Amino acid sequence: CLPEMFQVAEYIKASSKTVVFTGAGMSTESGIPDFRSRSGWWKQVDPRTVATIEALEQDYPLFHEFYSMRMRSLQKIKPHDGHNILAEWEKRGLVHLVATQNVDGLHQEAGSQHVEELHGSIKQLKCQQCEKEATTDEFLEGKPCSHCGGKLRTCVVLFGEALPQQAWKQSFETIKEADVVIVIGTSLEVYPAGELPFLSNGKTILINLEEVENDFDVTITGKAKETLQRINELLVIVE
Ligand code: NAD
Ligand code: APR
Repeated sequence: CLPEMFQVAEYIKASSKTVVFTGAGMSTESGIPDFRSRSGWWKQVDPRTVATIEALEQDYPLFHEFYSMRMRSLQKIKPHDGHNILAEWEKRGLVHLVATQNVDGLHQEAGSQHVEELHGSIKQLKCQQCEKEATTDEFLEGKPCSHCGGKLRTCVVLFGEALPQQAWKQSFETIKEADVVIVIGTSLEVYPAGELPFLSNGKTILINLEEVENDFDVTITGKAKETLQRINELLVIVE
């Protein structure tokens, strides 16, 4: 799909405000499963048993085990070249903001400065009762909150929870004014995050392994890393 990639390179070059919107498919090539593909988390475990407020309150051991396992597997994970290219495009003024549903922190680790985490972060811990910050070690060791003895949890947004106000507002405002929105590695099945890319009147681009039902100006069916590498090469040719 070279013509589509060339078109994307031209849109990026001509754009004065480009937002990149990413989902779990942006991190699979770093070794983190996504959620709804064949090898996704929700094929292995029912999200209602681990990723809801009810799970946290009614089955803390299972909730704790699921997030501890995800946190431990993240300790060896690094950003891939696709994350690095997005960070480089930000430095070159080609990307204004990365609005991500991912909680793994890989965009920031790759050097992206302007990142909004719509579903929170698995790297931040707090007490469910008093909201006091906690450390990863306290959580992994199964300790109660050092301040009130409450249950520790990650700052990942659970099903049924509202999204972080600031992240939602910043992403909403920036996407509304964007000339180009590049959506990478998401099924767009979860709301309200899944609605964001379509709030802009600009060009919408999808880079994804599977079809999604929404309409895009340009759709590239492919892997995030190699597609971003190809577009990055084409940016050199596009005047
Ligand atoms: P939900 O339908 O209860 O929505 C969650 C929150 O989003 C609620 O505060 C709701 O008011 C708000 N919301 C829903 N639809 C909206 C809309 N159209 N416009 C504005 N706000 C809207 O829960 P859900 O849809 O089943 O799950 C969505 C939320 O759950 C997302 O925030 C997502 O991050 C989170 N989630 C987390 C995990 C995880 O692994 N932690 C997994 C799936 C979903
Ligand atoms: N390159 C491109 N696309 C990919 C790649 C890849 N290397 N790997 C997977 N994909 C695609 C899959 O085909 C799928 O369509 O990425 C998409 C990932 O979709 P989901 O697994 O649904 O993940 P996401 O859209 O991020 O889920 C949204 O749901 O469970 C909640 O809070 C959680 O933030 C998550 C939200």
